Amino acid sequence: MKRTRWYKDAVFYQIWPRSFKDGNGDGMGDLYGVCEKLDYIKSLGVDGIWFSPLYPSPGADCGYDISNYMDIAPEFGGMPAFQKMLEGAHARGLKVIMDLVVNHTSDEHEWFQKSRRRIDPYTDYYIWRPARPDGKLPNNWDSMFEGKAWQWDEVRQEYYLHLFAIKQPDLNMDNPLVRQEVIRILRFWLEMGVDGFREDVITFISKQDGLPDAMIPAMRGIFRYNFGPHLHEYLQQFRREALDDYDCVTIAECALITPEKALEFVEEKDDSELDMVIQFDCMSADCLFTDYVPMPFSLHRLKNAFSSWQKKLEGRAWNMLYLENHDHPRVLSRYGSERFRLASGKMLCAMYLFQKGTPFIYQGQEIGMTNWLPDSVELYEDVQTIHHREHLPEDQRLRLYHRASRDSARTPVQWSAEKNAGFTTGTPWFFINPNYLEINVAAEEANPDSILHFYRKAISLRKQLKAVRDGVYRDYDLLSGRFYVYAMEEKLQRVLVICSFSSRVQHFKAPKGYDLSKGRLVLKNYGDRLDGNGFHAMPYEVRVYVFE
Ligand code: GLC
Ligand code: CA
Repeated sequence: MKRTRWYKDAVFYQIWPRSFKDGNGDGMGDLYGVCEKLDYIKSLGVDGIWFSPLYPSPGADCGYDISNYMDIAPEFGGMPAFQKMLEGAHARGLKVIMDLVVNHTSDEHEWFQKSRRRIDPYTDYYIWRPARPDGKLPNNWDSMFEGKAWQWDEVRQEYYLHLFAIKQPDLNMDNPLVRQEVIRILRFWLEMGVDGFREDVITFISKQDGLPDAMIPAMRGIFRYNFGPHLHEYLQQFRREALDDYDCVTIAECALITPEKALEFVEEKDDSELDMVIQFDCMSADCLFTDYVPMPFSLHRLKNAFSSWQKKLEGRAWNMLYLENHDHPRVLSRYGSERFRLASGKMLCAMYLFQKGTPFIYQGQEIGMTNWLPDSVELYEDVQTIHHREHLPEDQRLRLYHRASRDSARTPVQWSAEKNAGFTTGTPWFFINPNYLEINVAAEEANPDSILHFYRKAISLRKQLKAVRDGVYRDYDLLSGRFYVYAMEEKLQRVLVICSFSSRVQHFKAPKGYDLSKGRLVLKNYGDRLDGNGFHAMPYEVRVYVFE
C-alpha cells in the first residue's frame, strides 16, 4: 500500500496507562479513564495517542513484560474497553499507536512456560544455553536492569538470556517461527484498526552470532548487543509481510543511535524499514548516555543534539521530536527550572515544537509537572531504579535516584486539587506528587496564562506555519551559553524561535537578516518590548516571531 506519511502533520500525546486516569476507582489508571479524557486530549490540538503497553502483564516492568500480545489487560478494562476507546479516538480524528515489545516477553508468557519444558514448537523461542563446564555463565554480558544477562532455569536446567529484568526473557528472533509471531501480532492490531507502532528497544532484537564474550568490561552491556547482524533483514521482513499492507506509522526506540546510522533505517524510500527513530541525544544534555551518569546541564550539548538531527535528516528523513517520556525524569526539573516553572515550562514547549518532525508530548508535560522526590530509597518501585548501584550508601543512592529515576515521571497525572489529585476515588497504586495542590489540570484550565494554554496555542500555531513543516532548520548563535536561537526558513515565510536558558535577565540581539520590529510576535511568555533590534530577555523567556 502507498504510504501517505500522514504522521508528518501530526502531534502525538503519550499515555502511560497506569498513571493517566483511573475510571473505576481501583487506584490504577485504565481505559475507562482514557475514554473520559478523550475530549481533553483532543482539546490540546493533538492528532494521535501513543499508548505504553496495555497488554496483560505481571507488571515486573510496568507492562513492558507482556504475557499475552493479543489481548488487553483486565485492569485496563480488557478488549471491550479498548474497542470503545479506539472508536472514541477515531471518531475524534485521533490516531492510536500501540507499543510493540518483542525483544522479550514476560517469563509468565505461555511461550516461555512451554519453552522451559521443551514443548514444541516453543523449544527454541528463547535464547537458552547450557552451563559451561567451568561453571561460568554462558557469556559475560551484563543486563540493562538486573545484574548479569543470564538466569538459571530450574525447570529446563539451562540458562536463558535476559537483556532487561530477570522476568523479561529475550526472544530468539533468529527463529523464523518467532518472526512469524511478530508478524501475526502486527497484523492482529492493524486489522483491528490501530494506526501504527512504537517499537520498544528494537535495535536489540538480533543478537551477535555465537553470543561472544565482550573483551573489555565497558562493552559487556548495551554496546555488545545493540544493532545486531540481522536487524535490517528482520525489520524488512516485518515491513514486507505486515506493515506494507497498511498505511501505518512505525517509530522505533534506538539507543545510542546517530543521525548517520538512523538513515539506514528511516531514509525515505518506498521500502524504508521504519518511519522515525526515537534517539537519545536530546535526553543527554545533562548526563552521559544514561540518566544514571549525571553531568551538569549543558546548553551546548542540547543545541548540538537538536541541530545535528535537524540538519542531517533534512530532505532525507523525518524526525521524531520529544523532551519527555516514561523513561526519564521530568524535563522541566532537568533542563528548565522549578523556580521559574511557568516561564521555563513554556520555553521548553516552544523550543522543540517549532522544529521539523513529529512532536510527542508525555502526559503531564503539558501542565508542567515536575519530578517526584521521595525522602527514602525504599519508596521507589521501578525495576531499573531499585537495582541501580544497590551497594552504594543510602544517601548517595537517594541523590542519584532523585536525578535519574523513571519513577519521578511516573506519578499519576494531576487532574485537580481534589483528593488524590482527582486521579482516583480509590487508593492510588503509586505516590502522588504533593505539589498537585498547585500544579493540576483544573488550575491550568482556569489560568489563561498557564503552561497548558501555551501548549494549545503552540500546537495550533505550529499547524498554521508552513515554514515549520516545509522550511529548512537553521541555527543561530550556536556558541551562546544562554540562548538557543533557531529559525525555520522557507521561501515566503521564516519563523524565528528565541529561547533563553538563563535564570537572569540577559540581553538578546537579533541575528543578521532579522529585523524584529518587522516580525509578527506570535508566541511569548513575557512582554513584547524591543530594545533596538533585540530585547532584555527575562529568565527563561521565549519568543516566536514570524516573518513573511
Ligand atoms: C524500553 C521502554 C522501557 C522498558 C524497556 C524494556 O526502553 O521504554 O520502559 O523498561 O524498554 O522493555
Ligand atoms: Ca482502574
